[in-house]
Amino acid sequence: MSADDSHTGPRGHEESSVSTYVPRYDQNQMLAELEPEAERLLNRHLTMTQEWFPHDYIPYSEGRDFDKDPWTPDQPRLDGVARTAFFVNLLTEDNLPSYHREVYRMFGQTDSAWRNWVHRWTAEEGRHSIVLRDYLVVTRNVDPVALERGRMQVMEDGYETDNKDTLRGMAYVAFQELATRISHRNTGRYSGDPVADRIMARISADENLHMVFYRDILTAAMQVNPSAVVEAVKAEIEDFEMPGAVMDDFRRMSVQIAEAGIYDLRVHHDDILWPLLRHLRLFDATGLDAQAEQAREELGASLSKLDAMATRFEEKRAARRERRAAGGAVTSGTSA
Ligand SMILES: [Fe+2]
Ligand SMILES: [Fe+2]
Repeated sequence: MSADDSHTGPRGHEESSVSTYVPRYDQNQMLAELEPEAERLLNRHLTMTQEWFPHDYIPYSEGRDFDKDPWTPDQPRLDGVARTAFFVNLLTEDNLPSYHREVYRMFGQTDSAWRNWVHRWTAEEGRHSIVLRDYLVVTRNVDPVALERGRMQVMEDGYETDNKDTLRGMAYVAFQELATRISHRNTGRYSGDPVADRIMARISADENLHMVFYRDILTAAMQVNPSAVVEAVKAEIEDFEMPGAVMDDFRRMSVQIAEAGIYDLRVHHDDILWPLLRHLRLFDATGLDAQAEQAREELGASLSKLDAMATRFEEKRAARRERRAAGGAVTSGTSA
């Protein structure tokens, strides 16, 4: 894996231990055992979540008709990197039907709190693309034609999790919700636009509660079968992929996002993986069988490798920035 794609996660390891991952537990039994906890966490979620309305966040007074005043590339006020990050974040949210299908397949198939959670979660997620699209279109910060074509492309390609099992699915959504929360929050901050920042803070608060649900259900699963959780988490970390990877041109766009520090491997390692691993107390868990002990050791090695890759990327990026700054100084010196 090169420094250029080191922000997208560890996928691309030379050897994939994931191919050897085989769940060693009964998925239906696991879901049934965790159902009372899912119900408790759903009820807690409903008391913590706040109702909000996308229209309250949009500066509609800035809106103009596109037939009278078509979009032109000079209209956006956000810089190119912020526009790219918004574009990627919105198209990621747009693919909700695919995520719903996957999450429903993994958790929602029995008439239980699980299914109620899946539907509630989907309804909340739906607001995110609504508010992001309204903001970007009203403020003309993206080309609405490119945006619509991008939406068609990602939705036509869809997103699949390759039949993840229950526990690996739980690990996936826990990491994913946290990754989305951090990515939205950092995009808002980077934008320098208070309107955008407020929107992204609002969405991030939702993503945080989603993460907390999945994190806590995974913590409960640790009590049921710690060995199975360790193996699932390891497999997920070693093969983690951002859902935006299905977008045309994702690689180029994610390099820009990493160069700006909005989402890079350091963020992934420090702000996504470790906070969840610490909360799960995965490296302190006792009662693992021999196979899970070995998986945990290998996970420790993978994390150290990721840490080193993150550092390498940061060093190279700092050098690139220095070179650019020096180049800029030379240019302004010559032109003066
Ligand atoms: Fe979302
Ligand atoms: Fe979410």
